[in-house]
Amino acid sequence: MKSLLSNELRELFVDYFTRKDHDFVSGSSLIPAGDDSIMFTNAGMVQFKDYFTGAAKPPFLRAVSVQKCMRAGGKHNDLENVGKTSRHHTFFEMLGNFSFGDYFKKDAVLFAYEFLTDVLGLDSDKLYITVNSKDEEGYSIWRDVAGVNEKKIFKLGDETNFWQMGETGPCGYSSEIFFDTEYSELGHKECSVDCDCGRYLEIWNLVFMEFNRGMDGAVSMLPKPSIDTGMGLERILRVLQNVKSNYDTDVFKPYINEIDSITGKSYGKSGENYDVAARVISDHVRTSIFLSAESVFPSNEGRGYVFRRILRRLIRYSLKLGISLENLIYLGNTVVIVMGGFYPEARDGFAVFEKIISEEYNKFSDTIGQGLKLLEEKISELKGEKKKIIPGDFIFKLYDAKGFPVDMTADVASENGLTLDLKKFDELMGIQKRGSRRKKEKRGILDVNPDFSVTDFYGYETLKGSSNITGILDEKGEFATSVESGNFYYVIADSTPFYPEGGGQSGDKGVIEWTGGSVSVTNTYKTKNGVILHYGRIFKDNGTVRKCFPIKAEFCVDKKIRKNVASNHSAVHLLQASLRKIVGEHVSQQGSYVDPEGLRFDFSHGKPLTDSEIRRIEMLVNEYIFSDAEVKTEELNTSVAMDSGALHFFDEKYEGKVRVVSMGDYSKEFCGGTHVSRVGEIGFFKITGESSVASGIRRIEAVTGFNYLNFLYIEEDNMNNIIKLLDSSKSDIYNKIIKLFYSHEYLEKNNEDLRSKLSDLEAERLIKLFKSVENVKYLIYKFKNISADGIKDLINALKSRHDFPKGDSAVIFISLINDEKLIYIVSAGGSIDASKIIKLINAEVGGKGGGKRDFSQGGSSFVEKINNIENMVEGLFARA
Ligand code: ALA
Repeated sequence: MKSLLSNELRELFVDYFTRKDHDFVSGSSLIPAGDDSIMFTNAGMVQFKDYFTGAAKPPFLRAVSVQKCMRAGGKHNDLENVGKTSRHHTFFEMLGNFSFGDYFKKDAVLFAYEFLTDVLGLDSDKLYITVNSKDEEGYSIWRDVAGVNEKKIFKLGDETNFWQMGETGPCGYSSEIFFDTEYSELGHKECSVDCDCGRYLEIWNLVFMEFNRGMDGAVSMLPKPSIDTGMGLERILRVLQNVKSNYDTDVFKPYINEIDSITGKSYGKSGENYDVAARVISDHVRTSIFLSAESVFPSNEGRGYVFRRILRRLIRYSLKLGISLENLIYLGNTVVIVMGGFYPEARDGFAVFEKIISEEYNKFSDTIGQGLKLLEEKISELKGEKKKIIPGDFIFKLYDAKGFPVDMTADVASENGLTLDLKKFDELMGIQKRGSRRKKEKRGILDVNPDFSVTDFYGYETLKGSSNITGILDEKGEFATSVESGNFYYVIADSTPFYPEGGGQSGDKGVIEWTGGSVSVTNTYKTKNGVILHYGRIFKDNGTVRKCFPIKAEFCVDKKIRKNVASNHSAVHLLQASLRKIVGEHVSQQGSYVDPEGLRFDFSHGKPLTDSEIRRIEMLVNEYIFSDAEVKTEELNTSVAMDSGALHFFDEKYEGKVRVVSMGDYSKEFCGGTHVSRVGEIGFFKITGESSVASGIRRIEAVTGFNYLNFLYIEEDNMNNIIKLLDSSKSDIYNKIIKLFYSHEYLEKNNEDLRSKLSDLEAERLIKLFKSVENVKYLIYKFKNISADGIKDLINALKSRHDFPKGDSAVIFISLINDEKLIYIVSAGGSIDASKIIKLINAEVGGKGGGKRDFSQGGSSFVEKINNIENMVEGLFARA
């Protein structure tokens, strides 16, 4: 058997298959281009999906690739297994050979067998085969053509031997090749290929692609039988390097070594918990670098959510091993060293990762620490009561009040052999989310699949035209055979100048008129099938709709609204160009929206823009506007457009022709939206807001043209109202405010004096309640309904009394305010540190807060923990 390093193996594999007439095709992005049926590229075949189904013609009949893959979230999800086993990963590499209607089962089997036994020199005695029990042909090929002893060929069911990329797409029977490592993670002595203990390691999967699963779940035949195979690089390396786990191979060992040296422990010798954590960290840090390289940012949905889960798990296990943020970043850099040769993008990924992980670490290390403590307490309580389910209201509270993610609760629960009451949790979430439901219902219409052909859009050139209405739907998306004047409907036509909402641009408004009726269009949408829906109120239809379609009608888009939208859309392009010049080329669009009122642009950037950057951006955009360059649109072949350097979304699939919009020589983008014809028409550009939308993503809001004037008027009106209210004038308003400010201070002071007199009276009563243990004097007092300010006054009043205990003393006040929030305040003197006491209380009651040595305060949503504070603090002093 050859002993190979990862680089040598990749080369040898590609070399073998190119000699067998396969074209080498570079691996594709982790984000599948133009395919929403899966979240991440989960196998080598993903980039070739359309070649299998016949939707696109392959330029070659055989291909070989090395594909970076991710299996977290979606149909193929290994996230929960990572760490627990020695062979699962979220990110991994797959070596694959493919045939698109060329060779089929026999050659696929022979290639694989020859590569393993002749090229890699694996001992054929240690190879085992599985085939689908319905695949007699596959079975005979292995036995009669490849010559494998039938005792080593196993027939298994669809569960293991039928492969499918996602819920839909190409699929077929599969045949897997296993290697007997003679090492079982579970210590099994006698077991077989279908045992999950890791002894028989699945190294290669050959999929005999024959079928396609459609949206309705039904399976049809592919145009031609094809081959898709995948060999996990980390697994075959483990065999070749003769080690016990993927994590001991040259693609993982460097991280494990570093984790050992950071923690001073030893992988394989410091206990199972340590090994699990070291594996999770090694796996997740690699994945995080590659996701960062693809501009995926942690967020609350889709890919961003999976990334957030991975980052949080990474942070959680790092905290467990005491690995600091700096060391995590250092581990990230190791990914560049190990993987950067074959995957240069790891370098870009690292720069982004550094920012993302810093933000998430700082944000979540507290949450995770506190949440874990509460959860662990709960788990031990449940275990004590011999209960196995974590109650839904506890999970909800942990999530809602502490921001502790539910999937992490699930992770910890499963490590402890418990499950979650997700039914109750979902119920509580449902109550919270009720408000957003209406919005979702509205979107349902876009899924409607009315039996109409794609609407022809001619609104780039003109805003008016005659078209034929071909159908009318009611608000539920059903055909309207008659309509009622004054009600809302969706009007469908064969062609239209109305731009439908999409590509970050709002839909057109306007009027449609025909003999006998009209629609006042308030928005325009496009269904998934390309049918444009004009939504609006129908007036005075004198039964025309009952007549046969088509009805000839005049379509007229509201010019002023369209003009504003176009100005804003063109301004977004100029804004992106300016941002890239002033802030840096790393700025990439993460989303945008334009409507008649303004524009919004989200982009990747790790920190807030400074005031000076904002001004420079505004200046540059306005400079572009004043240059009054022509806006040119061209229809280009995708490859020509890509080569021209036009900006585009990396995760969108562009096919055939694309529209490219350029402005002067400073902006060129793929764009289907509507624009002004010269940038001077935008008039003026002003940024009205800059904020964060998610970690690593900033948002700019801005206005253009007359909307800027409106913006100025609003500011002016505000100012005038203030002037009037204060009975002042423009020139004097500043002085007037300063005077008011001082008189307010004076009144406050008076008020404070009065409050302190009242507090003196209360202090008189409380001073008698001090307890004492050895040298320490302390007071614990529980209030109902007193403000935090009131408590502070009382403390001052107590302290100023001559009989207030000096030296080692502490006053602890606890208050329960309006049944929702627990507040606690500690004032201390002598050797007692109030901030330390607050930290202990925080940990006890899942609260937040801090302060100084002499005065600190905190709060918690877990109000029922009020008595814990008293007991804990009493215990603390009793021990002192
Ligand atoms: N697409 C197949 C797999 O990923 C080869 O296992």
